[in-house]
Amino acid sequence: MKNRYKAFLMGSTLAITAMTLTVTTMTATATTMVKKEGVESHNEAWAQHFPLQYDSWKQTIQSERIDDMLAKKPQLAVLWAGYGFAKDYNAPRGHFYAVQDNINSLRTGAPVGPITGPMPTACWSCKSPDVPRMLEKVGEMEYFTGKWAKYGDEIVNPIGCADCHDSQTSELALSRPYLKTALVASGVKLEEITRNDMRSLACAQCHVEYYFKKTEWTDKDGNQKTAAVVTLPWANGLSAEAMEKYYDEIEFKDWTHQISKTPMLKAQHPGYELYKTGIHARSDVSCADCHMPSKNKDGKKYSDHNLQSPLNDIGDTCLNCHDRSEEEFRTIVEQKLQRKEQLMEIGMDNLAKAHLEAGKAWELGATEAEMADILKDIRHGQWRWDYSIASHASFFHAPEETLRLLAVSNEIAQSARLKLVKILAKYGAVEYMAPDFSTKEKAQGLAGVPLAKLVAEKQQFKATLLQEWNQQAVKNGTLNLDSRKGMSDKSSYSN
Ligand code: HEC
Ligand code: HEC
Ligand code: HEC
Ligand code: HEC
Repeated sequence: MKNRYKAFLMGSTLAITAMTLTVTTMTATATTMVKKEGVESHNEAWAQHFPLQYDSWKQTIQSERIDDMLAKKPQLAVLWAGYGFAKDYNAPRGHFYAVQDNINSLRTGAPVGPITGPMPTACWSCKSPDVPRMLEKVGEMEYFTGKWAKYGDEIVNPIGCADCHDSQTSELALSRPYLKTALVASGVKLEEITRNDMRSLACAQCHVEYYFKKTEWTDKDGNQKTAAVVTLPWANGLSAEAMEKYYDEIEFKDWTHQISKTPMLKAQHPGYELYKTGIHARSDVSCADCHMPSKNKDGKKYSDHNLQSPLNDIGDTCLNCHDRSEEEFRTIVEQKLQRKEQLMEIGMDNLAKAHLEAGKAWELGATEAEMADILKDIRHGQWRWDYSIASHASFFHAPEETLRLLAVSNEIAQSARLKLVKILAKYGAVEYMAPDFSTKEKAQGLAGVPLAKLVAEKQQFKATLLQEWNQQAVKNGTLNLDSRKGMSDKSSYSN
């Protein structure tokens, strides 16, 4: 694709050069076997075959900064009251930190053994090439059965080669069965997927919306079990409205809001779905075009595997296709961000107040019948807000769709608040003003998050069970401690 745009935008000589180089790299990948059988989840094992890709992948270790979103946007703790995200939520960092962040997050709690909660095994699913290894070893249903702590000594290598490449051929491959299931459900024929599609679908294995579908099954010894299976709600389509319909039809909720009692939906990160609505996707520009630019070292071409913001490398990404200055492009992206921020702030403020006003209405004795419509508004309003911004760069990938959803979300939140004015007036609280939630501390206070206790328990877990997991993984040969050299250990609660 890149070649086509070069032809289109910059003239044919360049296009021919680029095409030759792509063919070279493709031949180089053709069928290198990294492992004879099964999934090679050690990223180091791929290095000897593909040193350039490995070295660039390893650079994701440098994106280590913690951006505590609850401190930056305290409204979030109110919006997610009663749910794990109100405890801890950071902006994404480099792929190298995926396993560490999952372990450090207060959301995964402080288990004391393999069967203690709070989270299911599914929470590992987008963190590691040990996931496809386990899927193959124990089967999909067994993998999705049990608590997160069940695999503490198995899932140890961060997102890497075998997440996106086949260990026998080293070609791009979908290692997550649920993406294939969802593609089929949404009408895609798997055999028609092109190589260029794969340059986005590799990312869609994780940068998508999903939920955990409760599924009963019987194991080979006849035991009845319940799995929480990662499922993409794509059967009605990929838009926020289509997914909302899907969830409403099965009366699904991620949790019940602690303050407003609303049956809530939590959007994960529908990055791929939103990207699909944007001008770049419509012009066949893939994720890899912007996030994995072509590089050259000692005359050898390779794709940069340091997945990061393309703004760190405008010259080799945007300017490959566009004839403008770096400065202009920085300004364009910054303006798009500011437009989103403005609408998003208004939306979060309205939604947070709607939760608090609904909480007050319940407290004063409002009835279920009086509240039903309001709770539906809150559910649908917050879903649209969350869907539109949860994947972080939607403001750039799909600005129109992002702003549309934020506008509609705002309208629905306002509608809930207008209805609440009437109810509050009926119960004698016409003057009610939602309490202050302008800092993380205040907002977490309203959400009832016992932060100090959660942190203390987590530290205890890190000093004990986590150490046992790592020792066991080393013994099993799944973890090579050297592979973690140079990795920092940061979190929102300790730096
Ligand atoms: C998140 C998905 C992802 C991960 C992780 C990943 N790759 Fe890739 N890889 C890709 C994509 C997408 C391409 C195709 C890039 C293109 O065509 O522009 C690619 C291309 C390649 C190629 C073909 C030559 C080239 O450079 O374009 C090789 C070889 C390769 N990767 C090796 C690796 C190795 C080794 C690792 C682990 C250190 C790794 N990849 C990790 C997605 C990934
Ligand atoms: C196996 C799951 C998985 C796959 C496949 C995957 N990602 Fe990610 N990605 C994540 C997770 C999880 C994070 C957040 C990691 C963290 O914060 O610890 C992330 C973070 C990122 C970031 C933020 C990096 C930073 O330094 O801020 C970018 C950019 C990104 N991914 C792009 C991509 C692209 C492009 C692809 C496809 C080529 C891709 N990802 C494939 C799971 C995945
Ligand atoms: C046309 C170029 C382009 C394409 C195509 C593209 N991105 Fe991005 N991506 C960007 C830009 C620009 C940013 C914003 C960076 C910033 O604000 O620093 C970004 C940011 C991101 C981030 C957030 C990084 C962070 O730390 O906040 C993720 C994750 C991401 N992209 C994933 C993807 C995935 C997955 C795809 C394909 C489904 C994709 N991108 C397609 C240009 C692109
Ligand atoms: C592989 C080629 C390619 C890359 C890389 C690429 N773009 Fe584009 N971009 C396009 C194409 C094609 C269009 C659509 C042009 C058209 O049809 O007028 C486009 C359109 C745009 C537009 C206009 C969108 C609109 O709403 O009118 C902006 C802004 C833009 N790109 C910014 C960027 C930025 C910033 C980056 C780097 C992060 C980038 N592009 C990377 C090919 C690319």
